[in-house]
Amino acid sequence: MATVSFDKATRVYPGSTKPAVDQLELDVADGEFLVLVGPSGCGKSTSLRMLAGLEDVNGGSIRIGERDVTHLPPKDRDIAMVFQNYALYPHMSVADNMGFALKIAGVNKADIRKKVEEAAKILDLTEYLDRKPKALSGGQRQRVAMGRAIVREPQVFLMDEPLSNLDAKLRVSTRTQIASLQRRLGITTVYVTHDQVEAMTMGDRVAVLKDGLLQQVDSPRNMYDRPANLFVAGFIGSPAMNLVEVPITDGGVKFGNSVVPISREALSAAADRGDSTVTVGVRPEHFDIVEQGGGEAATSLSKDTADAPAGLAVTVNVVEELGADGYVYGDAQVGGEHKDLVVRVNGRAVPEKGAKLHVVPRPGETHVFASSTGERLSD
Ligand SMILES: Nc1ncnc2c1ncn2[C@@H]1O[C@H](COP(=O)(O)OP(=O)(O)OP(=O)(O)O)[C@@H](O)[C@H]1O
Ligand SMILES: [Mg+2]
Repeated sequence: MATVSFDKATRVYPGSTKPAVDQLELDVADGEFLVLVGPSGCGKSTSLRMLAGLEDVNGGSIRIGERDVTHLPPKDRDIAMVFQNYALYPHMSVADNMGFALKIAGVNKADIRKKVEEAAKILDLTEYLDRKPKALSGGQRQRVAMGRAIVREPQVFLMDEPLSNLDAKLRVSTRTQIASLQRRLGITTVYVTHDQVEAMTMGDRVAVLKDGLLQQVDSPRNMYDRPANLFVAGFIGSPAMNLVEVPITDGGVKFGNSVVPISREALSAAADRGDSTVTVGVRPEHFDIVEQGGGEAATSLSKDTADAPAGLAVTVNVVEELGADGYVYGDAQVGGEHKDLVVRVNGRAVPEKGAKLHVVPRPGETHVFASSTGERLSD
């Protein structure tokens, strides 16, 4: 077992001036499951391949445990990698596929058989050991690829989108299997995915990358509750956080007919940046509906019966009913602009298309970001 540290690790591909991975600083604890996530092209695979020794490091360094591995060949790093296409050898049995690396390493037959059988037991592959890969389902092939990594008892597992060849349902069950297997084996793991749900459900911690730059490293909970900037706020969470740019008024921001209070620290931080607006983030589940109805039949849920109802008027365009919950996709006028918003509603009382909802962000559940720099201003 081992820790992994990226220390300002940088990769600039030949012919490019912009680094694909730019001064990555990341420490993975012994036994930790760390997920690298971000949109396509953000540098996830490059980071993993640098750790594996498959890609040159042009600046900074990488350590596994106490060893500086920056310029070591892959075979000397004591890692095992699981790729997106499992690349099983089609002419070999499952057992031979799983034991192949050990055979190359000169391990004797009896020891190989023992390790393969142990791994097969863990992965529920015992009855398939004599089959060829083509006679297996996608999920079973994926487990053989995992088995090939496990038998090597490496210090670190590296996985690059290992589930992306599986259908949606199998992906969900397999991600649970991999996460629980990793916890049982306790082997430090760096796992790459572009799927934020996969990242949030599997990782002890999640590292978000964008354009080769690390945005935030945090536990899934903190990442969701306190995204460090606008990018992370919009990337983590499904449906995504609502982000609206609103003018700063006395002590808060104007949200339709309501003023949403903002902490003095956040307001003065915005002023320090010379901003007259802030970008407020509200997750779909953090709106309170204060009034709901379709024009004349409007029913007021608020005690306040003044003419203009409190909050922001949202016109319902689409309603997604998921059983327990419903999501309203609507639009509203915010800060003089048309804005699409998503509001979670009770699945048993969903509004109709064309109806108007008046919503206010729940107190204490708003996120405030600098409109100019995107960084988080609220705590
Ligand atoms: N061999 C290469 N030569 C030149 N540029 C490369 C090479 N491999 C990757 N890149 C570029 O480096 C950047 C990061 O690529 P990388 O493969 O690390 O992205 P990724 O986050 O894994 O994306 P995806 O989710 O699509 O797999 C991209 O802009 C890509 O075009
Ligand atoms: Mg990739």
